[in-house]
Amino acid sequence: EDDRPVIAVANRLPLHRGEDGWELAPGGLVTALRPVMAAHPGAWVGWDGGTKGMPTTLPDSRVSLLPIALSAAQVRDYYRGFANATMWPLLHNAIEKPRFERSWWNAYQEVNRVFADRAQAAADEHPDAITWVHDYHLMMVPQLIRNQRPEAPIGFFLHVPWPSPDIYARLPWREQILWGLLGADVVAFHTDDYRYNFLRSCVRQLADSGLEVRGSGVVLPDGRTVTTATAPISIDAGEFASFAAEPEVKDGIAALEDQFAGRVLLLGADRLDYTKGIIERLLAVEMLLERDPEMRTSVAFLQLAVPSRDDVREYRQLRGIVEQHVGRINGRFTQPGSDVPVHYLYRGLSPQQLAAYYAAADVLLVTPLIDGMNLVCKEYVTVQQAAGGSGALVLSEFTGAAVELPQAVLCNPFDVEGLSYRIEQAIALKPDARRKALAAMAEQVRVHDVHAWVSGQLTLIAARGAAAAGNR
Ligand code: G6P
Repeated sequence: EDDRPVIAVANRLPLHRGEDGWELAPGGLVTALRPVMAAHPGAWVGWDGGTKGMPTTLPDSRVSLLPIALSAAQVRDYYRGFANATMWPLLHNAIEKPRFERSWWNAYQEVNRVFADRAQAAADEHPDAITWVHDYHLMMVPQLIRNQRPEAPIGFFLHVPWPSPDIYARLPWREQILWGLLGADVVAFHTDDYRYNFLRSCVRQLADSGLEVRGSGVVLPDGRTVTTATAPISIDAGEFASFAAEPEVKDGIAALEDQFAGRVLLLGADRLDYTKGIIERLLAVEMLLERDPEMRTSVAFLQLAVPSRDDVREYRQLRGIVEQHVGRINGRFTQPGSDVPVHYLYRGLSPQQLAAYYAAADVLLVTPLIDGMNLVCKEYVTVQQAAGGSGALVLSEFTGAAVELPQAVLCNPFDVEGLSYRIEQAIALKPDARRKALAAMAEQVRVHDVHAWVSGQLTLIAARGAAAAGNR
């Protein structure tokens, strides 16, 4: 499948307008998909984010960027509303309360139709293309395309968790969304847990239709089989490792090492999102400083918060709370004449800037309450290993990444006091133990990188698509 055209359909195009021109959009989906899409001819259908004048091809690739413009009402009801105030919290175990609005659902269906039409127009130009639909914004698209093109190979990948069937059942449109996804030949997830949850949701909601689950497949009433797959996404490990040797990155590392000389540097790096456990992390650091006065000057915690969805109510509120905690902790524990214990940056960063922080940090804190995969920890172990470091990773067991990186110091972020002991444990790890764990984790990421992920997915979609078309 090495040179087969691919039509990627995702809510966002991979570029957005930053302060210095066109930059990579934030988030795991773009981080993972951009380098591999560049290896295939084809097209990327996505929202232009309201910006004008985006390049018409992805730099250094044969991929056309096909921008979709959304009206202000569509951004409000489809993107902020249904995608990010209904589906995002629902699929993340409802840790924030999902909001249900008929008008948002209507906008979601309407916008999914626009994406599906655009993907089909692109498929007209690449008749042998695989159509590959991504994430919770576009769950109706596979069915919409299937209705028009019964024989098309269609894949769907969900970049977030699938919750237990009990939580999924709260969705007023639970059946429609499932039928939407089942338009694909392959529906894939990061972990077996999410995949089983999905299969159980299908049985719970759709069994009356005659649908049946057989092994990893779903046999539809019309006889077509949809394959489910577990395929943990990853990063371009080679590219990230190479950052460690770039002069600009080396300068950044030196500056950070200078700034934090003599202190243990703890790092957090996340989109500012309520799934990421940033508040629990801050409270755990506070407990640490409370317990051990020496740490108030011997340890620094640096939180990078990348602005995200700041026009959604829950995200605005979260920012206020995070910033209150940072201020309170520094107010409590800053020692006269010393630097503050908590450093906080609210801004987007380039992959190279991030790499410098990764290389300089002694411990990375990845503490989501729930996270489909989490690529930050994969980036960290890759850069640390490439830079010859011995960094430790504290990793929430409620991330997809925890399945692949069991050598991390695993934590339960809901237990804030326990988390504070886990951080202490990571700080105290002997260099030998750190290096051994780091080497194992970096190797796992290197072998299972995003190139392996994409070729596995495309091969599977092509094979299942051909088999389904052959059965008709
Ligand atoms: C997560 C989602 C992506 C999304 C990203 C950034 O990683 O899985 O689909 O693009 O967050 O969020 P945004 O709303 O800015 O696209």
